[in-house]
Amino acid sequence: MSLQISNEQLRTIAREFGTPLYLYNADRITHQYTQLQTAFQHSDKVRFFYACKALTNLSILKHIKQIGCNVDCSSINEARLAVHAGFTPENILYTSNGIAFDEIEEAVALGININIDSLSNLEKFGKKYGHSYPVGIRIRPNIMAGGNLKISTGHENSKFGIPIEQLQDIVQLMQQYNIHIAGLHNHTGSEIKDVDVFMKVSSVFLDMIPHFPELQFLDMGGGFKVPYKDGDEGTDIQLLANEIMAFEKKIAVTYQRNFQIWFEPGKYIVSEAGYLLSKVNVLKPTATTTFAGIDTGFNHLIRPMFYEAYHRIRNISNEKGELKKYAVVGNICETDTFAWDRELNEIREGDVLVFDNAGAYGFEMASNFNSRFRPAEVLVKDGKAILIRKREVFEDLLRNQVEAF
Ligand code: LLP
Repeated sequence: MSLQISNEQLRTIAREFGTPLYLYNADRITHQYTQLQTAFQHSDKVRFFYACKALTNLSILKHIKQIGCNVDCSSINEARLAVHAGFTPENILYTSNGIAFDEIEEAVALGININIDSLSNLEKFGKKYGHSYPVGIRIRPNIMAGGNLKISTGHENSKFGIPIEQLQDIVQLMQQYNIHIAGLHNHTGSEIKDVDVFMKVSSVFLDMIPHFPELQFLDMGGGFKVPYKDGDEGTDIQLLANEIMAFEKKIAVTYQRNFQIWFEPGKYIVSEAGYLLSKVNVLKPTATTTFAGIDTGFNHLIRPMFYEAYHRIRNISNEKGELKKYAVVGNICETDTFAWDRELNEIREGDVLVFDNAGAYGFEMASNFNSRFRPAEVLVKDGKAILIRKREVFEDLLRNQVEAF
C-alpha cells in the first residue's frame, strides 16, 4: 500500500493524461478508512458514512463501497449516484439542507436513511408518513466550531439544523403525528481539530435523549481536520474514539439504553488522497513579485480564494532547483491567487506544479467559468492509473444551450 504517489509517477501521469488533472490514490482512501476503523475497533456501535459531497466520482464511490464504508449524501442526485454505484439503501444516508419536500419523498421511495433539518419538513413528513418511516432530525446546538466562518454550521446564526431552543416544537410534532424519530444529528462544521467540540455535542444529545423513546442512532456529523500545512495537526482520531466510547458508557449508565453512533467524514477520507496537477503557462517577473501563471484557476480549485485555504504546492519538474519566491496565479479573468510569496524550486515555463490535499472539495466545486473545461480525473488503483472522468470538450459547453435564434 502506498500512501503517496511518487513525483516520478505524478510526472508520468501528467504526461500521459495532460493537465490540468485531478488525480486520486485509492490506497490512501483505504488507509484513511482503516485508520477510523482501527481507532474505533472496540466499539461495535460506530458506523461511518462517507460525506460524498467532498468527491462524488462514481469510481471513488465504488471504491468506498468496496472497502465497506457507507455513504452520506447532501442532495437527491448524490443519493441517486450512490444507488448507481451499488450502495444498498440501508448504507445510504441523506442529510440535506433547505430542500423541497419532494426530495424527501424520493428519499423515502429509495428506502434510504434520512435526516430532516427543519420543523417545516418535519411537519410535512409527520402528516404524510406518521410512524411508518424512521427518521433522524438535525439539531443546531449553537456551538461555534470549524476552520472558518463559511464552514461553521452549528452556531447560533447558522441556517443548518433545527435550533436546540425549538426542542419543544420537535417533541410536539413528534407526538402530534406519531413520528418515528430514530436519530439525532448534528454537524458542527468542517476542519474541527478540537475533540472537545464533538464531546460538547454529545452532551447536548445526552440531555435530549429522554425526549425521544425510539432513538436508534446519534449522528455526530463529519468535520475531522486534516493537515494542510507542514506542521499542521489533524483531529486526534484515537482520542475521539476513546471519548466516544466513554460517552457510550455514560449513556448506558444514565439511561440503560444504547445507540449506534454515526459519523459523516468527507475530507478525512479523500482530501489527502487527491492531487491537482497543473502546468506553468507563463512566468511574469515584475518589480514586486514573479507571477507563475498556471493552466488552472479558481474554476478548478476554489478553496484558496473562497476560504483562503492553504494548499501545499510543489514543482515536480525541478525538484533540485534553487528555492525562489513566486505568486502562483490562475488563468482566469479574476484575481485567482493560489499562493503569494510561496517558496518553490525554481519554476520554468512548462514545469508541472502539484497541489496536495486536493481530493476533497476540489473537482467537486469546479465550474466552467470563463468557458473553460473542467479537468479530467484519474484514479491510481492496484498500481494502475485509470481515467475516471474524461476532460470536457467544446461540445460539453454547447450541450443544453438552446440556440433560440
Ligand atoms: N456532514 C454534513 C451534514 C456536512 O454538511 C458536511 C460538510 C460533512 C458531513 C462533511 O464534512 P467534512 O468531513 O468534509 O469536513 N467546501 C468546504 C467544506 C464544506 C463542508 C460542507 N459540509 C471546504 O472545502 O473546506
